[in-house]
Amino acid sequence: MARLWLFIFGALAIMIFAANVLVFVPKAQLSRLSPPPGLNPYTGAQLIGRDVYIANGCIYCHSQQVRDAAITTDPERWGRPSVPADYVFDFPHLLGTMRTGPDLMNVGARLPDRAWHLAHLYNPRSLVKWSIMPSFPFLFEIRDRAFADEETVNLPPPYAAPPGKLIVATKEASRLVDYLLGMDHTYPIRPEDLVPTQDGM
Ligand code: HEC
Repeated sequence: MARLWLFIFGALAIMIFAANVLVFVPKAQLSRLSPPPGLNPYTGAQLIGRDVYIANGCIYCHSQQVRDAAITTDPERWGRPSVPADYVFDFPHLLGTMRTGPDLMNVGARLPDRAWHLAHLYNPRSLVKWSIMPSFPFLFEIRDRAFADEETVNLPPPYAAPPGKLIVATKEASRLVDYLLGMDHTYPIRPEDLVPTQDGM
């Protein structure tokens, strides 16, 4: 019987230790981070686009984390390694675990063309022949006309709309592109943008 209590106490102690190290200490450290001067909060449009990004599973193939040059070649391809303060406005964060496609942490700086993103979402193969990214045609409508505030996609055959029709971006597609174009974490960072250490750095 005495052994059972030892077991229960041991299990509890391990749980409490793990919760502290993995949850409470990181939360306390990260809550002290402030936004870097170069990082803007998301606009309303970008927040809607972020939801479209989540809803369409973009995270299954795209990461949002440039890893350090010491362990990868990420910075050569995608820019400055990410720091904790880059994510202060991200809830939930969209770090991702897979890279079937490129990292998108700085995609707005790398590819700043709206028309490119709209065409790419409509059909990635229209711009990148070998692409295995899925098309998202349901974020577009084939119509006779478009309203003045709507965006259209102009593509050559075989991707073009049928004669007399237009490929019109839905609000979801336009907001998603607002979000993608805002993905620019190329600003310089300060020492305090890294994880603050125990001595309050
Ligand atoms: C099945 C995996 C997969 C999914 C899901 C996916 N992508 Fe991709 N994506 C790729 C691949 C592979 C590429 C590289 C080829 C290309 O440019 O099309 C890519 C490229 C891109 C690029 C160009 C990046 C660059 O640096 O060239 C953007 C932007 C992008 N994807 C956005 C999205 C968005 C937004 C979604 C969700 C609506 C999404 N992707 C869903 C696989 C995926």
